[in-house]
Amino acid sequence: MGLATYAAEYPVEGVAHAYPVQSRVAKGRIARIDCDEALTMPGVVIVLSSENPPELAKDADAELALFQSREVAYRGQLVAVVVADTYENARAAADAVRVEYEPGNHDVSLSADHPGLYQPEVVNPDYPSDTEKGDVEAGLAAAATAVDVTYTTPVLHNNPMEPHAAVALWDTEGRLLVYDATQGATLSRDTIARTLGLPAERVRVVSRHVGGGFGSKGTTRPHSVLAAIAARAAGRPVKLALTRQQMFDVTGYRTPTIQRVRLGADTEGRLTALEHVAYEQSSTLVEFAEQTAVVARVMYATPALRTAHRLVRLDVATPSWMRAPGECPGMYALESAMDELAYAMGMDPVELRVRNDADAEPDGGLPFSSRNLVACLREGAHRFDWDRRDPAPGLRREGEWLAGTGVAASTYPARRRPSKAVATLTDDGDFLIQVAATDIGTGARTALTRIAAATLGVAPDRVHVELGDSDLPEAPVAGSSMGTASWGSAVVRACEELKADGKEGRADTTEEVAADARTARHAFGAQFAEVRVNAVTGEVRVPRLLGVFAAGHIVDARLARSQFVGGMTMGLGMALMEETLTDEEFGGFLRRDLAQYHVPACADVERIEAVWLDEQDDGLNPMGSKGIGEIGIVGTAAAIGNAVYHATGHRIRHLPITPPKIL
Ligand code: MOS
Repeated sequence: MGLATYAAEYPVEGVAHAYPVQSRVAKGRIARIDCDEALTMPGVVIVLSSENPPELAKDADAELALFQSREVAYRGQLVAVVVADTYENARAAADAVRVEYEPGNHDVSLSADHPGLYQPEVVNPDYPSDTEKGDVEAGLAAAATAVDVTYTTPVLHNNPMEPHAAVALWDTEGRLLVYDATQGATLSRDTIARTLGLPAERVRVVSRHVGGGFGSKGTTRPHSVLAAIAARAAGRPVKLALTRQQMFDVTGYRTPTIQRVRLGADTEGRLTALEHVAYEQSSTLVEFAEQTAVVARVMYATPALRTAHRLVRLDVATPSWMRAPGECPGMYALESAMDELAYAMGMDPVELRVRNDADAEPDGGLPFSSRNLVACLREGAHRFDWDRRDPAPGLRREGEWLAGTGVAASTYPARRRPSKAVATLTDDGDFLIQVAATDIGTGARTALTRIAAATLGVAPDRVHVELGDSDLPEAPVAGSSMGTASWGSAVVRACEELKADGKEGRADTTEEVAADARTARHAFGAQFAEVRVNAVTGEVRVPRLLGVFAAGHIVDARLARSQFVGGMTMGLGMALMEETLTDEEFGGFLRRDLAQYHVPACADVERIEAVWLDEQDDGLNPMGSKGIGEIGIVGTAAAIGNAVYHATGHRIRHLPITPPKIL
């Protein structure tokens, strides 16, 4: 209805506008920054850079330690900011800031034999980098059939509809208010406070409406800190709204990956060995190691299992979260390799997965709290008429179009984190729920309203949910598919307390979450894709996508369907079109807007269905729910790639599957 107010839209009296200056070299040292001309331009209030560095905490995150160093870590890094009375004046003056560099020799190229590769201690968020069980070489040697295949995925960028923005206001007592496009008001408050060296209670972050994030608004980005610094220096409120192009440089991205998967199976199709090794990049500033290969620790029973991550620090921006970081690219490789194994041994790919189902986590041996992968595969196969499928690749042609179908499994961890919440009976007899949750467009308000109404035993229209403000009870980010489980647990407890008290209930689930039973908690799913590949143009169409998920209790059917279908659509983009090119010559990225970075449009998405199984799992949280924000993207690209192989007989191992690769 257009009623939501996003971060950049808050009307703030006397607000000035900030426009950043970005590094034009990928590596080097800033010799001098000349802002004399910029300072004479109309409306300019201040210019900040490493010539007059702001005071920040000594231990600030290196991506957020703005202007503290003269070393350039990547092309596009923020090196100065201009504050002016209008956006246009700030932008014009930013163009007039002269930055002199002593450039160095940059290295922005990931390869599997890069001499700088090393083994990180942990991968995101805290998994061990490497695991090994049994003897992989012996398992492969003993296998009746084995595959040894390498896949690559490109740099990918989140492109939420709402570009990142922050408006910062300091009051006369030195308290900071930031309207921030963030997935977590509490975390953003804590990060901004820590970076500025302030106690948390001196900072308030408001993010009542957020137009998508997918991970790019999960961690505080440099521009939010920059807005706060600029407002402090300018002595008036400052708005910093990033352009779409600037987002590509400073809001994180999905690391490119090179993944080698080796699989061996006996004559019955039972795995004898599984090895998954991922090569990926981080910046010289911060180590972010994506947990790409952890999916292999969850998926299939095997006597020999090795997973490993190798990282190289390049002259690039720090990669970060993008919907299902780790699981998504990892399952692309693993599930493509499973398809290759099925073809190599002449077994149906659904059957191969069913035969290797695990009743405990293959890696650590923890029992699953619930695991209905096989039921998802069976249900999907039934709905997709899989029995009638002719497995032979490259055979079905109608005119210019080759037709094929493919399948892949899906998985995502079911986590929760401690959260607080308060429930109050208001004077008019309604119920107020307060929690610093964030609604990033997923419908968190609706989900929490439902959860509260069900617990209180009242109609949903008597429940009012307040969220998106760090002054509310502390809550974790809308990320890692754990928002509803985390906040919902606290809301249930607060409502139970209210019922007991009659007036108010306060909850803090820290102890409850710490006492969670030690089980392997994951949602599972099965993705089925039908493709048509034009033999003349190489165009790939996807007439049908079907996802079947087992994700515990579904809190709200309409919202859940939207999340699953949204994730699958993003997976379609990953399979066929999304790709950011790295500029080898100058560093930084090529393709920095939606004209060049293609995301699926309505015409790209044809019949797309998401269904779910009733899954009862009482050991998770009071709702019995698993997260659903990310599992929809996991496996989709593999299902489409596998269908392209079935259609064409050609295995494309490098995403995205664009026409030149088909022809
Ligand atoms: Mo999601 S990538 O954890 O926001």
